This record gives sequence, structure tokens and C-alpha cells, in this order.
Amino acid sequence: MQLRKAARIILVGAPGVGKGTQTERMLKRFPQLSSISSGDLLRIQAESLMKTGALIPDTTILRLILSELTNRGWLSSPDSAQRLTLSSMTASLDSFTAPPSHDDGFITMPPREDARYEYSNDPDASFILDGFPRTAAQATQLDRLIPINLVVDIKTPTSIILDRICNRWVHPRSGRVYNTTFNAPKVSGRDDVTGEELVQRDDDRPEVWEARLKKFDETSLPLLEHYERKGVLWSVGGNSSDEISPKLFEEFGRRFGNT
Ligand SMILES: *[C@@H]1O[C@H](CO)[C@@H](O)[C@H](O)[C@H]1NC(C)=O
Ligand SMILES: *[C@@H]1O[C@H](CO)[C@@H](O)[C@H](O)[C@H]1NC(C)=O
Repeated sequence: MQLRKAARIILVGAPGVGKGTQTERMLKRFPQLSSISSGDLLRIQAESLMKTGALIPDTTILRLILSELTNRGWLSSPDSAQRLTLSSMTASLDSFTAPPSHDDGFITMPPREDARYEYSNDPDASFILDGFPRTAAQATQLDRLIPINLVVDIKTPTSIILDRICNRWVHPRSGRVYNTTFNAPKVSGRDDVTGEELVQRDDDRPEVWEARLKKFDETSLPLLEHYERKGVLWSVGGNSSDEISPKLFEEFGRRFGNT
């Protein structure tokens, strides 16, 4: 389906709701959409920095997004004094790949607050932004560059997510792996061959995931409220990706499609 105006989307959802799946399907269904992933941008541009395990400041990610959108011709600063050139970006990043110091001018300097940016409303300037923003503060900073015009809040019941990601059991001595949804042991909790007890790795345990999902809900709430106030939040629920995709396609088509 062709779009009639630029879509600038963010998908918000707990781990296990299938954001990646929805993104892939959206890209396939709406060829004018592209994916801009802050993780990919960072990997490409600041690999050595990431290897040091340093905390990446928000402003670095914002600058990478700004640079990516500028390079694509989707964003520009009309005031030439404020124009962000590729060489100034590269220079900044070069100085930045040294171990960061927190009073380094570049690291603490956000994209200029007084700078004004112009963004393209061409349907080809449509993207799903992945990995950023994660907090309301980051969203406020992003708003200064370019307004997101659809935030999709994907909700799946916690019990369903837990069923999906906590179904792996292992037999420690042999390393045999069972998946209680798709490849269950013959006797619940027992290895098929030896009859010995199966265990769950920490990362497969429901208690661990329950805490993680709760934490996600708490931290994502201010982000969702931010976009609710902007009038761009839309929530969609479902127990599976196949249940969610058609609703998402329909709503997206209604808002951005050329019908
Ligand atoms: C269990 O198997 C299904 C189907 O192959 C898969 O979707 C799911 O991710 C598996 N669970 C784990 C924890 O690997
Ligand atoms: C989704 O899962 C919930 C909780 O398990 C269940 O009550 C509901 O009927 C399911 N909905 C659909 C459409 O399958």
C-alpha cells in the first residue's frame, strides 16, 4: 500500500510481545517505510566505544539519528550556521571514540536547543524508529528534531508472554533441551532418557521475567504518557503477532495510507 504522507513511528512493547516481528511485517507491507535502528547506527559509527562498554549518552544517539535523517535528506536545518555537516559529525565521533570523559564538550552537548529543523513530509521519508526513545526525557529531546506521529503501544497479557518465553527446560547432565510448548518431555519435569529432573536456567524462569516485565511497564509508562499528551498514542492488544498484525495494518493504513 502507498502512503499519502510521511509516517514516523515508534513501537513500544515489553520484551516478548514481538516488536521485531511487527516491524518486519510493516516494512514488507508498506515498502515506503524504512527501519532506523539506534542500535545499528551505534554499531556502525561507534563500535570501538561500544566495546569499551561505556554508557552511551542520549545526546550521542540523538546526534546519530539527526545525522542519519540529514543524510537521507529527510531533515535539514535551514540556518546554514547551524547546518550539521557530515564532516563535523565524523570529527565529533572521532574525538568521541576515545574513552569518554563526562565533561567532554561533545558528550554533554545536546543538539543545539535553539536550532530549528525542517523535516520532510514526503511519504518516502517514512520510518520506524527502533531502540530510541526509551524515556520521556529522550522523547522530549527527539521532539525538538522531528515529531513522531504514531506511537504503537503493543500489549499482550503477561501470562501469555511468560508462556511464550519461559517454556525451556534443560537436562543439566546431557544438555538436552525441552520446550514445554512444542517439544514437551514425556513426563512433566523429567528427562526422557534418564528420568532425571529437568531445571530452568535463570533467564528462562518466570519469576525473573515477571520482574523484568513489571520493570518495563513502570519505565515505559511516562514515555507512553508523553505521547498520549501529544495525541499520537495508539494501543493495540493481542495474544499473538498474528492477532496484532491485521489490526496494526488497518489502523496504519487508515492514518497514512493512500486510499
Ligand atoms: C519453543 O518453541 C517454539 C517453536 O519452535 C518457539 O517459538 C519458542 O521460542 C521456543 N521457546 C524457547 C524458550 O526457546
Ligand atoms: C487471550 O488470552 C487470554 C488470557 O489467556 C484469554 O482469556 C483470551 O481469551 C485470549 N484471546 C484470544 C482472542 O484468544
